[in-house]
Amino acid sequence: MEAVCRRATIEDVDTLYLLIEGYARKGIMLPRSRETLSRQIDTFVVAEVEQEIVGCGSLCRLGSELVEIRSLGMSDGYKGLGIGSKLVDRLIEEAKSQRIPKVMALTYEARFFQKNGFEIVDKDIFPEKVWTDCVNCPKQECCDEIAVLKILN
Ligand SMILES: CC(C)(COP(=O)(O)OP(=O)(O)OC[C@H]1O[C@@H](n2cnc3c(N)ncnc32)[C@H](O)[C@@H]1OP(=O)(O)O)[C@@H](O)C(=O)NCCC(=O)NCCS
Repeated sequence: MEAVCRRATIEDVDTLYLLIEGYARKGIMLPRSRETLSRQIDTFVVAEVEQEIVGCGSLCRLGSELVEIRSLGMSDGYKGLGIGSKLVDRLIEEAKSQRIPKVMALTYEARFFQKNGFEIVDKDIFPEKVWTDCVNCPKQECCDEIAVLKILN
């Protein structure tokens, strides 16, 4: 199955909204409104198979040295095919082109990230994160996600 990763465009907002909403309902991702997606569309990449969007991911800047991979997900039926890794590669290339040396994620899929060269780290090393997304998260006081980090060279 040939998957192509590309930058998202404003025409992708509805599809992305539904994809992320599906994961949010399962509690594995934070929801994103159409307004937020429209505003942040430049930070998203999508994976397509035969012109259909089957996955996405985004890069959120947390400071001059650090970005976070957010909203990474694959549609059912397209997991385990290497497409998620392709999206991560694409996001890492994006971070490199912006000369940002560190990429992190908060995830329940630590093994997937480890396969992609990330290390598990202590959440407390990321103070900036607290002030962006966590304030709106329902699990704020009992966060059970695992922090992973990749230092780019
Ligand atoms: C996590 C996710 C993005 C991975 O994408 P994917 O396309 O299924 O992953 P890949 O096929 O690129 O997998 C790469 C490697 O990681 C491994 N892997 C993938 N998901 C895994 C998991 N849940 N547990 C353990 N290993 C996993 C694969 O076995 C593969 O290893 P291999 O190269 O030795 O075969 C996808 O499964 C998903 O959308 N999950 C639900 C949403 C979610 O939890 N997103 C994370 C938010 S940060």
